[in-house]
Amino acid sequence: MKILGIETSCDETAVALLNDGHVVSSLVYSQIRDHAQYGGVVPELAARKHLEILPALYGKLRRETGLDPASLDAIAATAGPGLAGCLHVGLNFAKGLSFATDVPLYGINHLEGHLASIELAPGAPPAPCIALLVSGGHTSLYVIEAPGMCRQIGATRDDAAGEAFDKCAKVLGLGYPGGPAIDLAARSGDASVFPLPVPRITGSPYDLSFSGLKTALLYKHRDVTHGGEKPLTETGTAHFAASLQQSVVKALLSRCERAAKAFGIPAIVVAGGVAANSCLRAEAEKLTKKGLTFFFPPLSFCTDNAAMIARAAHGRIQRGEKPDGLAISARSRWPVADTLPAGSEIPARKKPRTGR
Ligand code: KG4
Ligand code: ZN
Repeated sequence: MKILGIETSCDETAVALLNDGHVVSSLVYSQIRDHAQYGGVVPELAARKHLEILPALYGKLRRETGLDPASLDAIAATAGPGLAGCLHVGLNFAKGLSFATDVPLYGINHLEGHLASIELAPGAPPAPCIALLVSGGHTSLYVIEAPGMCRQIGATRDDAAGEAFDKCAKVLGLGYPGGPAIDLAARSGDASVFPLPVPRITGSPYDLSFSGLKTALLYKHRDVTHGGEKPLTETGTAHFAASLQQSVVKALLSRCERAAKAFGIPAIVVAGGVAANSCLRAEAEKLTKKGLTFFFPPLSFCTDNAAMIARAAHGRIQRGEKPDGLAISARSRWPVADTLPAGSEIPARKKPRTGR
């Protein structure tokens, strides 16, 4: 079964070809350099860039794989959530191709795509499992009850984990995107030099909040630099990066651990751009001694890509779901529960410990 994937929800233009769930080719054009001078993604610029890059990237995929579009079994394009103008570019490109070739079109939820990214490598755990989705726009915790069934049990109340990295990196002068820069800088830092709090929400064991952490870093940074008059050395910046990273990772893993215990599900999948974080991966590995097993997608499929979009369509086809066809519209907001229903409601076995 051959599926073409198209992803244009934010600042990555991506196309991929999957055959029977295996990646034949996955091409990603990152617009990071186009937006870096503005310190973040400029939606209008991103949409225009998708318009310029997508046809060329699709042409490259065709040349490299010898793809005849009429031979496809499905076309899958991200239909939301994301930046409206950006989504329209990819989805309308896919509609044109579907109309011209009569190949069925699937409009894929970007978050469902991230969750499916774990299936792009061998060894993905069967359901039930706990899933932590950590990207630049979303941070949520789910119980995957069965294939295609997913119940949200927690989410961030404010910033997403990736957003927290991006905003704090700006304060530290580490540029955009912040996550990879924090990850790199933290390697030579000591988290105990400028300790930061680990976010907790009393009474909501699986929810997260990163805005307080961001403010704590901002104030501490202001103190240490005397309001910006005494800029940090590279080592000082590394200490801040290490401390921030440690707090974010502790907050994320404590929610996973709590959910795994409460639901009696020891397999935990982590997906989304922040799943690329080296500290998160290393600390998750340490939890194997507590009986938990973490599963991460390959690094190239953590941040936005089109292979995960095609893989989500593969799952939908396997579950016998019908294509969406040309009538599907782009949705800038689109809860994953709209595409992956909650299922049988696996009950929590124990009452989880709540935050202090
Ligand atoms: O999934 P993604 O590519 O886009 C969204 O759907 O949002 O995630 C992008 C986010 C950014 O916030 C970026 O800073 C973060 O993922 N990120 C990382 C790392 N690589 C990317 N965060 C921490 N450590 C990393 N190595
Ligand atoms: Zn994403």
